[in-house]
Order: sequence, then structure tokens, then C-alpha cells
Amino acid sequence: MATVRRACALLLVLGALTLLAGSAVPVPPLGNGLARTPPMGWNDYNAFGLDVTEDLVRRSADRLVSSGLRDAGYVYVNIDDAWMAPARDAAGNLQADPERFPHGIGALADYVHGLGLKLGIYEDAGTKTCGGYPGSFGHEEQDARRFAGWGVDYLKYDTCYDGGVPARERYGAMRDALAATGRPIVYSICNWGADRVWAWGSGYGNLWRTTPDIRPTFASLLDVFHATVRVSGYAGPGGWNDPDMLEVGNGMTRTEDRAELSLWAMLAAPLITGADLTTASGATLADLANPAVVAVDQDPLGRPATVVSSRAGLDVLTRPLAGGDVAVLLFNETGAAADMAWTVPGATAVHELWTGATGTAVTARVPAHGVAMFRVA
Ligand code: GLA
Repeated sequence: MATVRRACALLLVLGALTLLAGSAVPVPPLGNGLARTPPMGWNDYNAFGLDVTEDLVRRSADRLVSSGLRDAGYVYVNIDDAWMAPARDAAGNLQADPERFPHGIGALADYVHGLGLKLGIYEDAGTKTCGGYPGSFGHEEQDARRFAGWGVDYLKYDTCYDGGVPARERYGAMRDALAATGRPIVYSICNWGADRVWAWGSGYGNLWRTTPDIRPTFASLLDVFHATVRVSGYAGPGGWNDPDMLEVGNGMTRTEDRAELSLWAMLAAPLITGADLTTASGATLADLANPAVVAVDQDPLGRPATVVSSRAGLDVLTRPLAGGDVAVLLFNETGAAADMAWTVPGATAVHELWTGATGTAVTARVPAHGVAMFRVA
């Protein structure tokens, strides 16, 4: 009896310590059945800002197909801010800008669907979008019906001009409005990591931004990575941490681009390319499509990586994969190449995912700002 009581007391203490350490508290999941693996696709904002047109979206969708990216998994074609006319119509409906989107969003959805792709759109849980267009706050049901009527498959929902209304109220209203349409629409919460969104996001959306906007620099990549990996425990099938859209091809070195893709794949992050696909190089397209790296991102177990070692800017991350394999990333944050290694107990075969090299040990000379990424059987 005394032994049982001592064991119970120990369990209570361990439980309390776990809570103090801030580990994930379960939230009832959203239950729309979508995004069982992290969404993949393209979005115009990183490369074009507010300069989006129907023509650009069509040409980018065409390029997703001709480059092979669609077949690699990049299926969402997401229109960001500034697609709208400056005012709602007489019935209060949102309308596309007649000059930049002359055929409207419904026709664009049809076009994209005809290519075997899906269409995403952008709105804001406030009175205006960040670009100053009409927001959805107070119009959630009407706007959700509009999106569903057009055939929209994904909504990125921003948080400018929030009027001081709590995030959960604003994001919950659109969640319920989307559900009421009956159309499957992936719901992307874009509140920049405010209000500890990772702790409640899975009850509201399919993904949630963990930080303010990323920039195409290694310093920004590092900030976003560090902020996201520390909340890995909150993400899983149907609800993902979103470290923002990829900057691959937007000005970093190829080494840094590959580091970004590898980190995002380890984090089970959405892979939404923010590159200009109409001019992207063969190297950018090939890196984005790397099937072994994409497979880690899309692994059905859906357990994001954690940092298992970090010393003087040399990080090791591991991620358990379905079927018992383990993904290991050696990441060199520093400005000088470094020899790095990690031991995986019981490893039988080791495969490096960028060079294709095979062996039995996780070890590499990792370039400055670079990675070596392994799948270990
Ligand atoms: C915010 C978002 C960005 C982008 C812009 C558009 O900054 O975080 O991703 O959508 O608004 O104005």
C-alpha cells in the first residue's frame, strides 16, 4: 500500500513538473478532417507583395504543372492580399478587383481545378486586410458562403485591424462560418504567433503562423526556426505550426535555401513556395521537388522534429517517421564549415537526402549556414 501511495505521489509530482515545463495541453481538434499532412502549394506574397493579378495566378498554376511541382505535392494555388475591389458590392458581398481579376475568382477556381490544383484565398479577421481592403470581421458567414460558392479550397485568415477583439473570438467566428458552408476549406490562421496561438490553434484551424513575416535572409530564417521548433509539441495531423511561406529562390544562397527546406520538412511545416515560379531557376524547382525531403515533411506519423543537441550554433534535430525510420538533420548556423555527427542506436542504413549518398553513419562536413539531412533505417 505504502509503495502504491509513493508511486502515486511520484506520478503527481512528475505531472506537475510536465505542466510547469509548458508541454502541450491537449485541445479538441478542429475535426474538419483536412490537412492530415502539412499543406503544400504556392502563394504570391513573398515574391510579389500586393502586386497580384489573375494573369500571374494562372501563369504560376501552369508552372506548378509544367515544372513537376504539382506532382511533387504542391497543389494549393494561394492568392494573398489585394485581390479585392476596395469596397463590397451593394449586397455587401466581397468582389474581386475588376481590373486585376477581370474574370473573377470563380472562373480562376475553375481554371485551377482543371489543372488538378486547388485554389486558396486571403482575408482578414479584422475590419480591413493588412493592405487596406475590406476585412471579414462581422461578415464571416456571408464571406465564407462567397468563398465556398466560388469553389475556394483554402483560406489564409490574417489579423490586421483587429479592433481589440480577442483572437479566439475572431478566428472562431470564421471557423464556424466555414464549417457551415459544408465545403472542405483548409483554414490557415495568420496571427503571427500572437496569443500563444500554438496552444489553442488545433481547435480552430489547420495551421497557424508561429511568427511575424519571414524575410529572404538567413537571419530571418534562424529567428523563425527557433521560435517554431520550441513549440513542436503542439503540432500534428490536422493542425500544424506554420513558420511562414518558403523564401527558397528569393535571394538566399542555395545552401541556405536547402537549409530552409530541410528545417521546414523536419518541423512538419506547410511547404508553400513563395518563389516567382515564372522565372524560378532549375535549381530552385529541383530543390523544392526533392522527393526524399518532401516525404519527410509529409510523413504520415506527423510528429515534428525536436532539437536533441545544440552547441555553439551546431544543432541536431531528429524526427520519428512512420514505420520506424528516423530523420536526422545536422544544421550549422555558424559562418564556418564544421564536422558534425550523431549516433542513432540500432541504425542499419543511412541515406543523405541532398547528395543521395548512402552509408551506415550520420556524419558530414556541414557548410556554413548549411545542413546535412538523413533518413536512418
Ligand atoms: C501580413 C501577413 C503576410 C501577408 C500580408 C499581406 O503581413 O502576415 O503573410 O499576407 O499581411 O498584406
